[in-house]
Amino acid sequence: MKKFLAMMMALAMVLALAACGNNGGEASVSGSGDVSGEIAVTYTTANEGKLTMATNAAFPPYEYVEGGKIVGIDAEIAGAIAEKLGLELQIDDMEFDSIIEAVKGGKADIGLAGMTVTDERKEAVDFTASYATGVQVVIVTEDSAITSVDDLFAEGANTTIGVQRNTTGDLYTTWDIQDEGLGKVDRYSKGADAVQALKTGKVDCVVIDNEPAKAFVNAIEGLKILDTEYAVEDYAGAMSKDNTALYEAVNAALEELIADGTVKAIVDKYIPAE
Ligand code: ARG
Repeated sequence: MKKFLAMMMALAMVLALAACGNNGGEASVSGSGDVSGEIAVTYTTANEGKLTMATNAAFPPYEYVEGGKIVGIDAEIAGAIAEKLGLELQIDDMEFDSIIEAVKGGKADIGLAGMTVTDERKEAVDFTASYATGVQVVIVTEDSAITSVDDLFAEGANTTIGVQRNTTGDLYTTWDIQDEGLGKVDRYSKGADAVQALKTGKVDCVVIDNEPAKAFVNAIEGLKILDTEYAVEDYAGAMSKDNTALYEAVNAALEELIADGTVKAIVDKYIPAE
């Protein structure tokens, strides 16, 4: 038994040394919990020894800045993935519509940004397992003539809709409303800016994900979220199609975190049950 342990420790040291020699790290992905089932997987990361996450930290409670730090559900999930892989987490904040490019170009390892899985995005990146559900909702002023999502599609409707640029709220309303001649879409760099435009009467409503919608409506007087949902969608991490080994390692780590309840505990911490 002692001999076996010593042998395993020697093996671990060899693996650790090997890990130092390359740009990413060496991860052990356990198939069965049995040592003999372990496969060493080598991958490279954007920054040596780090898991680099690209995000747009203006999307509470998934990612936002608090005390000069980026916090939130996605930041914590990424932290847990990084820990499993023995990497240090680095978060790069950018415009939402730069995230996919950063991942594709290998500048970031994973885009985690409350990002919805869509067929178009799937052409550019590979998505990890989905870790949350998002709902596109409509924010209006308390005295708004718009009382349900259907009002946006009514014949003769002429609504100005505020969205965050290149989000699914932007894509859907562009197709469903602007392209159908039922109004126009005003695109903002941040969701909060779109909500501010609603408050000042520049747009008639905002289409955005339900959790940031709640946070924005709570922070500004005189706004409400319509009861009817615009669309229900899945959030997942976006990764490069060209780094399969890293994809496998990150996705395996995420799946373990989903299976053992870690992801749920993180989500519940930020989104208390109603
Ligand atoms: N779920 C929407 C989408 O994928 C919005 C995500 C916006 N995320 C952010 N961090 N700003 O298009």
